[in-house]
Amino acid sequence: MKDLKGKVAVVTGAASGIGMSLARACAAEGMRVVLADVEGEALERASREIAETGSETLAVTVDVSSEAEVRRLAERTAERFGAVHLLFCNAGVGAGSLLWASTAKDWEWTLGVNLWGTVHVVNAFVPAMLSRGEEGRVVITSTTS
Ligand SMILES: NC(=O)c1ccc[n+]([C@@H]2O[C@H](COP(=O)([O-])OP(=O)(O)OC[C@H]3O[C@@H](n4cnc5c(N)ncnc54)[C@H](O)[C@@H]3O)[C@@H](O)[C@H]2O)c1
Repeated sequence: MKDLKGKVAVVTGAASGIGMSLARACAAEGMRVVLADVEGEALERASREIAETGSETLAVTVDVSSEAEVRRLAERTAERFGAVHLLFCNAGVGAGSLLWASTAKDWEWTLGVNLWGTVHVVNAFVPAMLSRGEEGRVVITSTTS
């Protein structure tokens, strides 16, 4: 994709780190940006910073491990902006412990966000992106470990 101006980007895990940088980069290209994150306060700060650059933003507090919350994110995005052109599945967590010290609960949490979160986001957004027939890209940065 070459001309991103006016197009729509959705970034999960947008309140910090790589996601925040992706959101900034999209805004710098003149895109409208949907920022999604489970950390509501950090998300509001990130969204404010990007809106101050003149970019149109939508901030949605969402836990990507919840299929229902991700579907709502897709609905709110469609209501506000219509098409999505760049979809960044970036929200992710790491249990931070050694493999043999990770409990089943640690794995449920990690896989719930990193794996199922990605599944929910892809399922909620990609069919609509394809049916619109507009050029688009999906980028997955979350890892399963
Ligand atoms: N930093 C690296 O070296 C590296 C390497 C490979 C892959 N990754 C992946 O890239 C992604 C971003 O990494 P980062 O270093 O910027 O991490 P980060 O911790 O700085 O940012 C992750 C963001 O995801 C959000 N998040 C966590 N759980 C969530 C949930 N359930 N729903 C919605 N948002 C949630 C966090 O609040 C945070 O804002 C992660 O998925 C990570 O696994 C990072």
